[in-house]
Amino acid sequence: MPPPSITVDRCLCRAVPFARLLPGARDAGWDLEDLVRETGCGGQCGLCRPYLRRMLATGETTFHELLTEPPGPGPADPHPATP
Ligand code: FES
Repeated sequence: MPPPSITVDRCLCRAVPFARLLPGARDAGWDLEDLVRETGCGGQCGLCRPYLRRMLATGETTFHELLTEPPGPGPADPHPATP
């Protein structure tokens, strides 16, 4: 049996395809935090954040693998650690 496949091509919380985000992000020179602030994508559940990060780095807008980020302070963490 072949392994299950996935396709991730959008921020599900905001229902915005990565392909729609990339041109504006590139034109504006946004990093991930700029993109989150300006579009709201990545600012809700945060599961799309590793995909957005890779999109900005590589220009890819469709992914067929699970990407995760280590836990840490961010929009998905309502109780970030204090120094
Ligand atoms: S999938 Fe993008 S913030 Fe939830």
